[in-house]
This record gives sequence, C-alpha cells and structure tokens, in this order.
Amino acid sequence: MRRIMITGASGFLGRHLLNKMPDNAEVLAQFCHQDVKSLFPNAQHVQMDFTNTDWSAIRDFAPDAIIHTAAMANVNECENQPDAAIAMNDTATRQLTDVARGIGARLIYTSTDQIYDGKRGDYSEADIPSPSNVYGKTKVDSEVYMLEHHPSAVSVRCALIYGKAIEQAPTFTEDMIQRLKRGETVNLFTDEYRSPVLVDNLAEILWELSAHDYHGPLNIGGSDKLSRMEMGEVACDLLGLERERLNPTRAKGIKFAAARPADCSFDLDRANDVLTTPLLGFEEGMRQAFV
Ligand SMILES: NC(=O)c1ccc[n+]([C@@H]2O[C@H](COP(=O)([O-])OP(=O)(O)OC[C@H]3O[C@@H](n4cnc5c(N)ncnc54)[C@H](OP(=O)(O)O)[C@@H]3O)[C@@H](O)[C@H]2O)c1
Repeated sequence: MRRIMITGASGFLGRHLLNKMPDNAEVLAQFCHQDVKSLFPNAQHVQMDFTNTDWSAIRDFAPDAIIHTAAMANVNECENQPDAAIAMNDTATRQLTDVARGIGARLIYTSTDQIYDGKRGDYSEADIPSPSNVYGKTKVDSEVYMLEHHPSAVSVRCALIYGKAIEQAPTFTEDMIQRLKRGETVNLFTDEYRSPVLVDNLAEILWELSAHDYHGPLNIGGSDKLSRMEMGEVACDLLGLERERLNPTRAKGIKFAAARPADCSFDLDRANDVLTTPLLGFEEGMRQAFV
C-alpha cells in the first residue's frame, strides 16, 4: 500500500481527491474546521491548523507522498488579510516542505494560474511569474522555496477549477446552471480568459503525479481557453438552456479587492508530455459533470 497524506481534504478539490482514492492507497486526510470523516470513512482523518501546528501527525504517519491543497484560497480574502494569507499559503507551505523533505515524502503542491500577470495568456512553465495580487504572490513565494528545497516536489499551477461540489455550497458552474434553470439572468465576464479544469480531472492528475518522478513547476488546465461568457454558452448548448439569459459583462472597470489578471490561459505542452491522464476540454468536462 502507498501511504498518501492529503492536506485540505475537506475543501472543494480535497473532497474529490478522497473520492478518487485508489485501492492501493492508505490515506491520511487533514481538515481544519470542516470534519469530513463521515463522508469518507475509508481514510484516516486528522484535524490540524497549519498556522499553529507541530507537524508531528505527518511525521508519525510517514507518508510516501503529500498532496498539499490546504490554502487560504479566496483571492479577495487574501488581499484583505495579507498577514493571514502569508501565514497559511507561504509560511506553512515552507514548513511543510521541510517536513516532507525530512521524512523523504514526495510533495505535490497546488499553486495557481494567478502567479501570472495575465497580460498575455498562453503561459508556459518557462514564463516568469509576476503576480498582481497577494494570493498569487503567496503562491509564487512558497513554490520557489519548495522547488529549491525539496528534490521531488511538483508545483501544479492549477487553472480555474470547475465542476460539482461534494456536499458543499454550489460552485460557480453549479450556481450558473441553477440560476439559468430558474430563468434568471446571469452576468458573465467577456474579458477574462482561463483554461478551466474539471475538478475530477485535476484530482486524477494529482493522483498520477503522486506516483510520478517529475520535479518542477507544471501548468495544469483544461485543453480549452475560454471566457466565463463562453463557458456559459457551452453550458447552455449542452443542457438546453437559453443563451438569451446570459448577460455579457466586463470585469474591467469593476472594483474588486484583489486585482484580477485578464488572461491566465495556459500552454499545456509540458503537461501533455508528462502525464498519461488526458486534459479534458471544457465541453467534455461539463458533459461528464452535468449531463
Ligand atoms: N478553486 C480554484 O478554482 C483554484 C484554482 C487554482 C488553484 N487553486 C488551489 O487549489 C487548492 C484547493 O482549492 P479549493 O478550491 O479546494 O480550496 P477550499 O475549498 O477553500 O479548501 C481549502 C482547504 O484548506 C484548508 N485550510 C484552510 N485554512 C487552513 C489552515 N489554517 N490550516 C489547515 N488547513 C486549512 C481548509 O480546511 P477546512 O475547510 O476544514 O477549514 C480546506 O480543506 C488551493 O491550494 C488553491 O489555492 C484553486
């Protein structure tokens, strides 16, 4: 059996990682505030606050690999509480890096497309990160430390994640579909591009990487570059909903706490070389999740 620790197992992505737990894995699932033991009884569970922990539970479990998804993941919250964002996303990730290296555990980290400034799009791993908000900066600072100090770490720069939440508040895509089904108008940005990745697809990729020998940064997204408006159009066509309910809106000009990079789409050549798991296109991902 492979011993795998999942941090942030109670989060949106973490629950999907537990959902796709392979038969040959013994899993330690970390949560902070949301206990998910009853949802996933086939894993062991541990409560830890990474901003105040001695890390001994991880050393005791002695994992072969750690998939590190725990984070302060709300971009505007990070902007409003920079010290808390640095403590969780940067400082705790550095500490976890040292723990993982010390016990010889491979480390798979979920970084973000928001490490790029979004001025150009089609970013590859060779492009220099230049984050425009606190969240992106905490992720870059932590991944630089990790990749320098851990010989078998991977920093997975994840695109916008979509799909169905497991026993949680509806995601962006679920909320959009529910509102369209109720006949409501939905405002969608036309001037922000991403390479959205289906949460189930990303979970499979993270499991593949946990047993891989790749080291370094890796950009992971779906194979299509779309605006939120285009995502809405695909959803309408697939689910027989009215495109007329989609209201094209521009993000530029709206005041958000954190700066929003315009085009964080990915060049996925390296991911396609490294992985056997295919990167799904948006229509196929939506079909798998919602049809
Ligand atoms: N969602 C996206 O579109 C997206 C895009 C790119 C990258 N990412 C990255 O992907 C990862 C997963 O994102 P997500 O959307 O699944 O996030 P999420 O739903 O907000 O989950 C965050 C997880 O982190 C845990 N956590 C928060 N503060 C903690 C603390 N102080 N100590 C220990 N654990 C703590 C939470 O535990 P409790 O809930 O139990 O408190 C939860 O399990 C994150 O690293 C995020 O930065 C996400």
